[in-house]
Order: sequence, then structure tokens, then C-alpha cells
Amino acid sequence: MTDSHSTSPSLENLLHETRAFPPSPEFAAQANAQPSMYDEAAADRVEFWARQARELVSWKTPFTQTLDWSGAPVAKWFADGTLNAAYNAVDRHVEAGLGDRVAIHFEGEPGDTRTVTYADLQREVSRAANALATLGVESGDRVVIYLPMLVESVVAMLACARLGAAHSVVFGGFSADALRSRIADAGAKLVITADGGYRRGAPSALKPAVDAALAAKEGEPATTVEHVLVVRRTEQDVEWTQGRDVWWHEAVEAADTFHEPAWVDAEHPLFILYTSGTTGKPKGILHTTGGYLTQTAFTHKNVFDLQAESDVYWCTADIGWVTGHSYIVYGPLLNGATQVIYEGTPDTPHRGRWWEIVQKYGVSIFYTAPTAIRACMKWGEEIPAEFDLSSLRVLGSVGEPINPEAWMWYRRVIGSDRTPIVDTWWQTETGAIMISPLPGVTATKPGSAQVPLPGIAATVVDDEANPVPDGGGGYLVLSEPWPSMLRGIWGDLQRFKDTYWSRFPGIYFAGDGAKKDEDGDIWLLGRVDDVMNVSGHRLSTTEIESALVSNELVAEAAVVGAADDVSGQAVVAFVILRGEHADEAGTDEGSARIEKTLRDHVAQEIGPIAKPKRILVVAELPKTRSGKIMRRLLRDVAENREVGDATTLADSSVMNLIQAGLAKPAED
Ligand code: WTA
Repeated sequence: MTDSHSTSPSLENLLHETRAFPPSPEFAAQANAQPSMYDEAAADRVEFWARQARELVSWKTPFTQTLDWSGAPVAKWFADGTLNAAYNAVDRHVEAGLGDRVAIHFEGEPGDTRTVTYADLQREVSRAANALATLGVESGDRVVIYLPMLVESVVAMLACARLGAAHSVVFGGFSADALRSRIADAGAKLVITADGGYRRGAPSALKPAVDAALAAKEGEPATTVEHVLVVRRTEQDVEWTQGRDVWWHEAVEAADTFHEPAWVDAEHPLFILYTSGTTGKPKGILHTTGGYLTQTAFTHKNVFDLQAESDVYWCTADIGWVTGHSYIVYGPLLNGATQVIYEGTPDTPHRGRWWEIVQKYGVSIFYTAPTAIRACMKWGEEIPAEFDLSSLRVLGSVGEPINPEAWMWYRRVIGSDRTPIVDTWWQTETGAIMISPLPGVTATKPGSAQVPLPGIAATVVDDEANPVPDGGGGYLVLSEPWPSMLRGIWGDLQRFKDTYWSRFPGIYFAGDGAKKDEDGDIWLLGRVDDVMNVSGHRLSTTEIESALVSNELVAEAAVVGAADDVSGQAVVAFVILRGEHADEAGTDEGSARIEKTLRDHVAQEIGPIAKPKRILVVAELPKTRSGKIMRRLLRDVAENREVGDATTLADSSVMNLIQAGLAKPAED
């Protein structure tokens, strides 16, 4: 296998010191998850999921067929059942007498708060659905949501689902250009946004990016968007396009609080979520309704051991990512959870903000990314020590491999050496957690995501698709369909087949390297393709390279993800400047200016998250004889390692040149 990234735990070094933490007998006795689930699922995987679908999801018309795999690789689950996702997330809890239960404790970054019960949510979602319908949204339409972390963000998603319209949430950190291409690809009718949100102590703007994304552009077809619905959050002045723009509060407050949900087929599209792939163009990952709801509800209940009457759950993700979809919106709400939603950053106004929130709401289940844990480690354990974290009883990790040191710190400092940690492996494409320990059942192991969930067929294979023995390494694959699997790439069936189903025919290729230890537990080792993982966010090397070469300064660019202590990987770009600019890079001032220009350019083309941490101006790039850039060698340079085997280079002196040229560290 190639290119597993180097922040991954060095298995050989760690295994001998690895200890497992068995569940406490008290925890095991009360846990939702039971060891028998593995046996039940092994006995009949499909029937296991049918049972979960009946127990955890409410159907308008019960399904009689469970899995139809005849159209592989496009699965159908529960296809003849009908249901509504918003009804499942909200109304049925109210009907069950739980209307007064808090669904959301909202905490704004400036400290404003809002408590939303399930009954409140039912009214809000119904009103919003009516407002959207008035603006022309119908079942089968697409709606782009570009919002900060607000109650309205959840309401907007559920309002779409209530109407049978697919939402496509675009992370608020993406630029106007990135937003524009997603709106166009999805063919959205409506965009829901806000004037802005609070971030790092100040209001930041969002609406201007929508205005720019919708502006007419020569040579491009007119936008499909008819209206822009604008949530007022920060009182910033906004430009207004009469006839197109509508205030959320005016439209929603005027709308009726009753709305009959659209009962849709289980395979009706629920959402499209764009994610980075190995080519420049983001992929619109399509998820449908019945299977997705079944698996998000099942995993949320069992992986986090949710006890809905007593737990307070908090997932720190943004709804712009799949974690926010599955483990802020659908999973928790389907299970009737009480959760915290926080608008801002962990260090505003101080570095204890998260722990202050845990203490304030008595958070008992906490789900975050390794990059955040590593940042907290850096800030020092005296910060969390100032707060009462004794309410915590389950901690989760997602988005990237968690190094055992961070895992141990998380358990000891945040979890009082007591809480189980669930390291959950999954992807935008898988829709829900696939590999994870089950708290109360699995003895947890620092650094390993461990075992496929009941009903999930995940394994590690070699180049020829043979499962590797314990102790071996290779590629992570999924060999059987699962309920929340993606149903395709929006508008591009061929790309769906090529990307996931052609590396090993008939088997889903996840794009991750993995190993199995001597106990058969799975360790994720990072991507094996040209996708980087920066702070748990997926970024495509090719997409950033395209952004760089679209700047007039740049002739050629190569981007790699280099190991980084906090963010897991950091974006490092190697650029060859166009002839007339090459001299500018010779002076400190010139190279600083070039770096800034190119960073800003990437932020404008994609978004600030994609900005290279370092930009290195070089005269040549290492290429094979067939012209392929050898990123492995560039990664060696970026990580200050001795450069590996360069014998396949067309010109083997290139690496010497690059290293000589970079003798002066180009840190920012
Ligand atoms: C990585 C996020 C190791 C992996 C839910 C995957 C992980 C990609 C883990 C998907 C984990 C996610 N351990 N690596 N627990 N969870 N990944 O689509 O490389 O944003 O392929 O979904 O993140 O990222 P995505």
C-alpha cells in the first residue's frame, strides 16, 4: 500500500504498551449495547437491520422488503416502506407525550442562550416547512443551506425533510466560489443563509458570499435559485435583492404551525452533502431516507449508549459536515435526546469555554475530533481542571486517527480515568458509524477504532482483495451493503462506480489504509489516496492545486498533507512560479507577498480551511517518467525527513535541487 500518512500511530511501537480498558460492571449492566447483538447480526445481517428499522423508526407504511441489492452498487433498503424524517425526529416524540423534553440547549458564542423543547421544535419546523412551501419548495427539490450553528440550522434541515426536499448543507467556512459550484451542481431552488454568526468574539458575515455566489457570471448559465431566505443573527447590514431575498423571521413567523409531513418512500433522497474527492470537483454524496435514519438512530443509541431520559449529549461538529447531519440532527433527534448546540469556537472568550459548557448543562456524552483534543492538550490540563466534568460518562472521537497519547489524555483529563472512549470510524459516504467499540461491551484500546459494528462487514484486504491475517496491513473495505450507505454521487453514477467500486470489484473501497493487530482489532492509518485530512476535514490535494494554478502567479503546483502535531495533517504547497514572477521570490519581501497572495487566493477559491500552512516556491517538481507528481517525496521534504526512494523520477537530480532551494526554512 502507498502513502499512509505519518501521524498515524506507529503500530509496532505502540502495541506492546497498549492496554485495554474493560467496561465497568455497573456500566455493562445498564448499557444499551449487548454482546448478543454481534451474534444476532452474524446469524442474519439483513434481518438484524430490519429489526432495528422497525424498532427505531416510525413508518407510515411498514416495509415488507428489507434489502434489494439487485441494482448494485446502488442499494435499496426498506424500499416499499414510507415515512418522513422530520416526523421521526420531532412529531412522534410530541405524540408520545415528550413535548416538554428539551431537544436543544442552544449556547451562542456571545453567551446568549435558548432552550427548545420537542414541542417548540415541532411548531418551528412546521412553520418553516409552510414558509418554504410558500416560496415554491416541493418534494424532490433541492435546498442549499449555508448557515452558522444555530437552532434555525436544524429547523431548516428538518423543514426540507418534512417537505421531501433534499437539503444540501454547505459549510459556512466555504467561499462564495465553492458555494456557487455546489448550488449549480445540486440545481438548488432556494438558499437558506444568515446575515452572519458570531465567531471568535465578533460577528462574521455570510450573506455577502451568497450574493456573490448568485451573481450572474459571463459564460455560465443563470442560477436555478429563486429565493434566498435570510436568518437574522447579528444585526449586520446586508445587501437586499428585492423579490429574491426574504427574511426568515418574517416568513416563518407568518406561517401556520400545522404542517402535514410529506410521506415519502424509504429511498426518497434526504440530502446531498458535498465532500472532497481525489479530483478537483467535489462529489455530491447522496443519502436517502429509511436506511439512513435506521443506522444513524441505531448507532447513536448504542455507540454513545444514549439514555434519552437522563443524558445530555453534545457533539461539537458543525452541521456543514456529515457528523453534524448524523450526530447532531438525525441520530440524536430520532432517539429523543436532549443536546447542546454551541455556535462558536472552543477558545472564545477563554480556553475553558467547552468545559464551562459541559459543567453548565451537565453534559454526559461528548463527541469531538482528535484535532480539538490535541489543541486542548497543548493548552494544558489545568484549564479543564477548573471545571466540574463529573457528569461525563461517554466520550467519542471522530474524523481522523486518534493517536494513543491523545486518547489517553482524553480519558484521563476529560473522562476522569473512568469514561469509555469510542473511536468511531466512518465517512460522509457511509452515512453513519461503521467501526467502533460498543461501550459496556468492548474493552477499549487507545488508538484503535477496533471492531465493525454488528451488521457491518468491514475488513482489511491486500492488493488482491484477500483479507489480511491478524497482524497484517492493507486497505479498509466494506464487503456487504449497509443501510445508511450512499446511494450515489449526485448526477454522476459512473463516478460513483469508478471511485468506490472499481478498485476491488463488488466491494466498497473506503480510501483508508488500515491494519489489524494481533487481537484482530482494526487501526486506521489515514488516507491512501490524494485526500488530506486537516483538523478532521477532508480536503483534496487536486482541488487545492487547481485553485493555485488558477492564480496568474503560478505555473504549476503540487500539494501534500504533511504531519502536524495539532491538525493531524497540514496543507503544504510546492509551487513553480510563472517566468516573469520567479525573480520576485528571491527576496524575503517578495516571497512573503507571494505566499500571502496565494493563501488568500485559495481562501477565495475554496475557503479559509483550505489555505496552505506553508507555500514553498521551487524551480522543479519531482515527476515520474509518465509525468505523475511524486507527492511521497514532497511529503518527505515537507516533514523534514530524509527523502525516500527517488529512482522512478524522470530526473533524479530534482530532489537535490528542491532541498537545496529550501535550505532556508519557509515557515509562516
Ligand atoms: C477519516 C467524517 C481514523 C478517514 C465522519 C475517513 C477517521 C475520512 C476516523 C472521512 C477515525 C474518520 N479514525 N480516521 N475514527 N473517522 N476518519 O467524510 O480517513 O469527513 O475516510 O467523514 O475521515 O471523512 P468525512
